[in-house]
Amino acid sequence: MGILDGKRLLVTGVLTDASIAFHVARLAQEEGATVVLTSYGRVLSLTRRIAGRLPAAAPVVELDVTSDDDLAALADRVREHVDGLDGVLHSIGFAPEAALGGNFLHTAWPDVATALHVSAFSLKALTVAALPLMPAGGAVVGLDFDAAVAWPKYDWMGVAKAALESTARYLARDLGPRGVRVNLVAAGPVKTMAAKSIPGFEDFRGVWEARAPLGWDLSDPEPAARACVALLSDWFPRTTGEIVHVDGGVHAIGA
Ligand SMILES: NC(=O)c1ccc[n+]([C@@H]2O[C@H](COP(=O)([O-])OP(=O)(O)OC[C@H]3O[C@@H](n4cnc5c(N)ncnc54)[C@H](O)[C@@H]3O)[C@@H](O)[C@H]2O)c1
Repeated sequence: MGILDGKRLLVTGVLTDASIAFHVARLAQEEGATVVLTSYGRVLSLTRRIAGRLPAAAPVVELDVTSDDDLAALADRVREHVDGLDGVLHSIGFAPEAALGGNFLHTAWPDVATALHVSAFSLKALTVAALPLMPAGGAVVGLDFDAAVAWPKYDWMGVAKAALESTARYLARDLGPRGVRVNLVAAGPVKTMAAKSIPGFEDFRGVWEARAPLGWDLSDPEPAARACVALLSDWFPRTTGEIVHVDGGVHAIGA
């Protein structure tokens, strides 16, 4: 018996086999779920290839989370593979180069707007697009990087994560009455494609080495993925609007 037996999940954000979403999909299948992936544009074929490394076959449907057409078509595209959803993973983040790396005071609005659109507003867009597939309720889980403080170089991505956190709370407010839970996992740094695009990402290693009471391995996406699987399961039935920190304890420890 797995904790996701019989669950039908939509998993966004599988780009490589280092993607946090890849490990959520893998563990979810191992726990009994049926998984449908999303990808978009030029990376669609890459996601299809990486999907072949999962324990079980997983179809990939097209979704650029900033495309109104893709969002409108999502429910029908997913219905080609499953008759509904019990959970959705939002594992999407992007900020243009100019929005990262220490240029905070001079980043122009169009770059900030892109970061906010792809990384924060998209949680609302994806959730609402998936709602018709969850008439009896379900679980939405997103990936966060603790936005309670300012980090070196993270800049407007940090602002986008603060917006993501707030978006999750408002979604929790509005969708609770429909039985939809919305929670975030605030993960410590994990070496993925998205991480490589953050200048100075390696600097986080020192912070985590110094401050994580449980220790932290930047090459291990599994702790964050496990928390996502748990939140997608029935084992958090009355939890919503929550941020679960999976960071070795860093958020709780002063310098
Ligand atoms: N890696 C870390 O250190 C870390 C830490 C905490 C939180 N996170 C968050 O985890 C999530 C997943 O990132 P990851 O680290 O696994 O990296 P990743 O690069 O593997 O995944 C990012 C995903 O976002 C997708 N994406 C970007 N723009 C999109 C769009 N317009 N439409 C649909 N999908 C789009 C990409 O295709 C990719 O699959 C992100 O929200 C990221 O901010 C990452």
